[in-house]
Amino acid sequence: RATGTGHTRAKAILVGEHAVVYGEPAIALPLASLPMRAVARREEGPLTLESVLYSGALSDAPEQLAAPVAAVEATLDHLGLPHRDVVLSTESTIPAARGLGSSAATAGALALALADLAGRTLTAQEHFDLVQVGERVAHGNPSGLDARTTASTEPVWFQAGEIRPLDLALRAHLVVADTGVHGRTRVAVADVRSFRDRHPARGTELIAELGAITRDVVDDLALDRPAELGARMTRAHGALAELGVSSPELDRLVGAALAAGALGAKLTGGGQGGCMLALAADAASAGTIAAALRRAGAARTWLHRTDARRPA
Ligand code: MEV
Repeated sequence: RATGTGHTRAKAILVGEHAVVYGEPAIALPLASLPMRAVARREEGPLTLESVLYSGALSDAPEQLAAPVAAVEATLDHLGLPHRDVVLSTESTIPAARGLGSSAATAGALALALADLAGRTLTAQEHFDLVQVGERVAHGNPSGLDARTTASTEPVWFQAGEIRPLDLALRAHLVVADTGVHGRTRVAVADVRSFRDRHPARGTELIAELGAITRDVVDDLALDRPAELGARMTRAHGALAELGVSSPELDRLVGAALAAGALGAKLTGGGQGGCMLALAADAASAGTIAAALRRAGAARTWLHRTDARRPA
């Protein structure tokens, strides 16, 4: 084969970030409006990457791309391919370092493109394991939530490395807003650990509360309870803020969304920058909230609607 392609997408965590690192469950949504496409083509010479962040030999790629680079190297070894004579390219509008899973989406799409080039398909577990090689480089102790969700096309329940589909009666109108500030997942994950070391009782309580919120959100989604879901999202934001992973920008956007009529709002992903998520009652309200978020300083906003579905 002369070329191979791979597709993944960004993800937003509805609830459960950070607590998921301690074995609690999380719920995350793939964002179809932010796709990632990778192409691998045979061309003699050093292994090369062409992307918006960097174009050149993979061995000289900047630190920011360390995770995808590690995943690509692991994929080549897995497929028994030499580390040369391939040009990789990625095309995407996923903002980097904003808690939307750009590193896992990039690594995953590149792994799929390389497998396709080799005339192979990766099993879900192989894909997961290869992306996790990169995620470990990116932030030390990744739960695997990003690796799983960016490979999925449906919202997922995630716990201990495994996913299952959700019963969705609720059609959620979500607004994702970018603070414009780089998220710092590695630092945020370390800060939660340090909070737990300094305040063991409160730290354990907050992680458990986030886990309980996620379990209740499963029922909100299955029973079509948007107001309850919104209230739980806002409570989750409070717990995450107490754990130290919010930021003034995230708090300001959460406040602006609630003032504009959101049913709930919270940071999403690693935090300390990056993106937040607001739940709107309907499409019109989502538009109003998005406009309010941009007035409050959001660099960008995206609208996302989940569809109802019943798993088989
Ligand atoms: C990052 O998208 C989500 C975190 O929970 C880290 C992880 O799950 O590995 C903050």
